[in-house]
Amino acid sequence: MILKKELVLTCFLVLFALGCNRIPPDSRNEYEIEVRALLKKMTLEEKIGQMYQVDPGVYGSPEALKEAIREGRIGSVLNVTGAQAVNELQRIAIKESRLGIPLVVGRDVIHGFRTIMPIPLGMAASWNEELVRQSMTIAAKEAASMGIRWTFAPMIDVSRDARWGRIAESAGEDPLLSSVIARAMVNGFQGDDLSNPQSIAACAKHFVGYGAAEGGRDYNTTVISDLDMQNVYLPPFKEAVKNRVATVMTAFNEINGVPASGNEKYVRHTLKDDWGFDGMVVSDWASIAEMIAHGFAADGKQSAQLSLKAGVDMEMSSTSYIQNIPKLLEEGKITLEMVDDAVKRILLLKMRLGLFENPYTEVALSDSVLLHPNHLEISRKLAAESMVLLKNENDLLPLKKGTRIALIGPLANQPHEQLGTWIFDGKEQDTRTVYPALVEANGASNVIFVPGLDYSRDKDTKQFEQVIRAIDKSDVVVAVLGEESILSGEAKSLAELKLPGKQTELLQLAASRKKPVVLVIMAGRPLSLTKEEPMVQSILYAWHPGTMGGPALADLIFGDVVPSGKLPVTFPKGEGQIPIYYAHKSTGRPAGADSWTHIDSIPVKAVQHSLGNTSHYLDYGYGPFYPFGYGLSYTTFEYSDIKISAPEVKIGEKVVVTALITNTGKVKGTEIVQLYVRDLVASYTRPVRELKAFTRLTLEPGQSSEVNFELTKEQLGFYLPDGTFVVEPGEFHVWIASDAASGVETKFLLK
Ligand code: GLC
Repeated sequence: MILKKELVLTCFLVLFALGCNRIPPDSRNEYEIEVRALLKKMTLEEKIGQMYQVDPGVYGSPEALKEAIREGRIGSVLNVTGAQAVNELQRIAIKESRLGIPLVVGRDVIHGFRTIMPIPLGMAASWNEELVRQSMTIAAKEAASMGIRWTFAPMIDVSRDARWGRIAESAGEDPLLSSVIARAMVNGFQGDDLSNPQSIAACAKHFVGYGAAEGGRDYNTTVISDLDMQNVYLPPFKEAVKNRVATVMTAFNEINGVPASGNEKYVRHTLKDDWGFDGMVVSDWASIAEMIAHGFAADGKQSAQLSLKAGVDMEMSSTSYIQNIPKLLEEGKITLEMVDDAVKRILLLKMRLGLFENPYTEVALSDSVLLHPNHLEISRKLAAESMVLLKNENDLLPLKKGTRIALIGPLANQPHEQLGTWIFDGKEQDTRTVYPALVEANGASNVIFVPGLDYSRDKDTKQFEQVIRAIDKSDVVVAVLGEESILSGEAKSLAELKLPGKQTELLQLAASRKKPVVLVIMAGRPLSLTKEEPMVQSILYAWHPGTMGGPALADLIFGDVVPSGKLPVTFPKGEGQIPIYYAHKSTGRPAGADSWTHIDSIPVKAVQHSLGNTSHYLDYGYGPFYPFGYGLSYTTFEYSDIKISAPEVKIGEKVVVTALITNTGKVKGTEIVQLYVRDLVASYTRPVRELKAFTRLTLEPGQSSEVNFELTKEQLGFYLPDGTFVVEPGEFHVWIASDAASGVETKFLLK
């Protein structure tokens, strides 16, 4: 591709550039010479064309699209699938445009392509990095077989507000768990060689702080302190960049008055300069143009100027760049260097993907890849590990085969709903729902299915009589309730976290028949279960479990798989408690078990007093309904003998914490053992607990095993508002725990 004379010239250019003060932010650009040589040949219009990504669905006619590609005015398309369709556009780009630069084709492959895994919040609930990585490798293989080489995932916005519909797409409330999931997904999608035709470029999104939307209302303002930005919202993105995520997507929200797509502080300075990110930044759908609505840009021209200056390389869908960059250059409002930097990153992405050498997709490939039995097996395994057992009174679960089951609820046999949000290529005909899975496991004569309601928002109780008859003929009720998939995801914020429709009434009816009830919830967010919990003996939170959710649930209900899932997000008693998360600050008046002045305990005409003035609610108290990290098993685990390697250590010295975990139950089980730390006194207040590590332990009944965590500087320090990482001496408390509200505790002094 590179002629000899160009090579000489380019080498000179590279040496010259290295001599300048602005050395490329990352010397890892393995295609530096090729990129520069190609850049030199490009006209300004061709450069701007690379910076434009279009969705054919909103680009006018197919002919206009092909003409634009032919003329080099488009660099990427999204939402085109199928090797045939992609190859056709690719052929135009390669054979008919002046420079033959290939397109990169993107798609939201968020939790699977055709084989759908649990929603990301569910995948996070598995706490199983390796299994999540494997599942995203499968997603990449299936997507790549259909011509997709770039996914707009992982979404790693730390989310602490269940009213926000996009919590479904996140890895929950914790920076460390979100960082682990980010690493798993980036490595799953990209593999160890991005040019492998079965790999796809990942996209860490939405940069940054989108999950902090005020009121949990999507697209809303975010006000994030530098301390929180550095210690909560940025870390998962930093982990993605460390794992060489190929692209990053900006966000719709403004951050402290500056919209994410025009935020030079975080995009150019933190992401590109400080972290050395050498990949490509794409705007979120029209988020550049939306800076006008934000009141941050007067018009498209200013939007383009602000975004390019901020470091956004490619514009998705809106046309601020292609319409305004020439003028902005003429007027000196942006520099050609800014444009060249953006185009270089786009060309680098395409070269890393191997698109110049290998632009086409083998047409028949997908037939043997999509829904491969191994893919379905992984989906089933991950779905079972994602489900969280929240209650299991009298060890009702697992059920014995042959138990007569009344299966009720609007989500027990809804193939579309079970897949969850952000499904473009998953097909409901592939979904294995709960009803046939229970029949297969337990025999048709032992499963009577009466939905009771036809969909989650259904208010029509006409089937309730039938439900009673089914329950009266059965031993146990399995009620599969929750949210239709469309009630979760983008622009699906809810002010109330309650079960929609007449589902609570349906459950009440079931409970009134005096048969034990297993409640299974399929939802894209934590729901308030304060009313429903007392009605039932067991609760399994299944999220939206994907294609194999039915068989996975059957595996758990009959004990073929023992639950190991743990909550990646705190469950509030109700939305009135939000924001509520485990890694909260102590406050000057921390609440404790004895400080709750319950609203019903206050005497009538009580005189003003200052007793019990601690940080809590009179009605809800201060604790959550279920804590972060919580999840039961069919066995029980005992935590004991926590030990620390030394009561006093110097910064940088090795600190080892151990504890003994014993399976005190009757069946083999897997426990996700969590390590939490508290820095008691610091120059900025620190949370009462922070997750710093976790490990999976599988124990036979009666078996004990010692867990061993080494506490490193990285786990004891924190970021100051300016991003400096510090480790400060003082007392540290350490827990080894089953969730954020329990555990065995020790402490040490860091000198
Ligand atoms: C959407 C989402 C983003 C998605 C993009 C393309 O609005 O915010 O997550 O990747 O547009 O579909």
